[in-house]
Amino acid sequence: MTMQLLNFCLLVILGHTAMGVPLKQIQLKLVEMQKDLENLNKSVQHHGLMLNTPQTEDIKECCTGHAMLCFGEKLDALDSQNSNITKRLLGKSLKKPIIRESVNDCSEDDTKSANCPACDSYPLRDSRTFVQALKTLLQQCTAKVGYRR
Ligand SMILES: *[C@@H]1O[C@H](CO)[C@@H](O)[C@H](O)[C@H]1NC(C)=O
Ligand SMILES: *[C@@H]1O[C@H](CO)[C@@H](O)[C@H](O)[C@H]1NC(C)=O
Repeated sequence: MTMQLLNFCLLVILGHTAMGVPLKQIQLKLVEMQKDLENLNKSVQHHGLMLNTPQTEDIKECCTGHAMLCFGEKLDALDSQNSNITKRLLGKSLKKPIIRESVNDCSEDDTKSANCPACDSYPLRDSRTFVQALKTLLQQCTAKVGYRR
């Protein structure tokens, strides 16, 4: 946890140099987020909670970053038992502009005019599917950022 916090702070500091953050660092962060999600999922009680969930096929072009933000917003509702800190950290990471911007394929202008759907308009799916969809998205983004190096 301490290491995670350190990494997190490091990214926050580097985040101030915005585009200066090496993609390798973003990629490592995305891998760390996958691990956080796995740990979080271990203590989540899946008891039929329905959450707005952007699955791959629901995510419009240029809206990958926005979908990540939606996951960050909805994540909070998961019944995480004793993993609230992990949940909060992961939620923060998902909402970070530097992460969002680096996973979008589109130019800044195209992203702005993309008109991404409201988070509440994504289909409701049960919490298991929600976690799986987030995992898939993080995996896809990790691969994508890797290619762009
Ligand atoms: C985690 O958060 C939930 C809801 O926000 C709260 O009810 C619960 O008491 C918290 N658990 C711990 C261990 O802090
Ligand atoms: C999350 O945990 C549940 C068990 O509670 C498991 O069935 C599911 O496969 C896990 N999801 C992921 C994406 O690891």
